[in-house]
Amino acid sequence: MSEHPRFGTMPPLGHDVAVAPVTLDDIGEVRALQRACFTSMQARHSNEAETIAFHSLLASGSYSAELAVSVKRQNLLGAYLDGRLVGSATWTTSREDKRAGRIRFLFVSPLFNGCGIGRRLLTQMECAARQANLEEMSARSLIASAGFFERNDYRITTYGVFPLEAGESLAVCYLRKPLSIRNV
Ligand SMILES: CC(C)(COP(=O)(O)OP(=O)(O)OC[C@H]1O[C@@H](n2cnc3c(N)ncnc32)[C@H](O)[C@@H]1OP(=O)(O)O)[C@@H](O)C(=O)NCCC(=O)NCCS
Repeated sequence: MSEHPRFGTMPPLGHDVAVAPVTLDDIGEVRALQRACFTSMQARHSNEAETIAFHSLLASGSYSAELAVSVKRQNLLGAYLDGRLVGSATWTTSREDKRAGRIRFLFVSPLFNGCGIGRRLLTQMECAARQANLEEMSARSLIASAGFFERNDYRITTYGVFPLEAGESLAVCYLRKPLSIRNV
């Protein structure tokens, strides 16, 4: 079970953000956002070698190429607050199960954690997946973020590791949710 972060009293901003497809020009900003998220959250749970390996993944050409594919398909969503990128997320159809969607690149700026922006992105992706007649959504999550998904009716199915370079890895878990369940 993940540790629940203490956000204090955060203003609800989920309905104040504009959610729109990220453009190629914003890929650098997406990576900077993801690096800030990791540094703030996972750094408390990872050692220096794992953190360096994760930063190196974010800086790699293959990671940029993956982001660029999502951008070109116009399904990398950005959450913008007063024009500033504060969140990102995308989903694809699962390779193994065509009835299931898979969430990727879900990150919210640590400055705005607990404001409902992650849920807004998640809800939007789940709506799109329902419209595409998918029955289930799945996610691979850092252990520290699993509580967010559980709060949104995902259930952990299994635990694993996400391999990084130089033999490093991060502990992750896999979660699923039937799309018949809707967020309130
Ligand atoms: C996980 C993440 C996307 C959550 O975004 P967020 O905008 O802070 O989440 P929200 O404010 O929408 O939270 C929705 C609910 O989940 C809860 N929650 C959020 N993060 C949580 C966590 N780590 N553990 C337990 N509960 C959490 C909130 O308290 C809120 O609860 P409520 O229903 O009582 O209001 C964000 O912390 C993040 O970017 N993490 C690092 C990247 C990551 O691990 N991404 C997921 C895998 S790709």
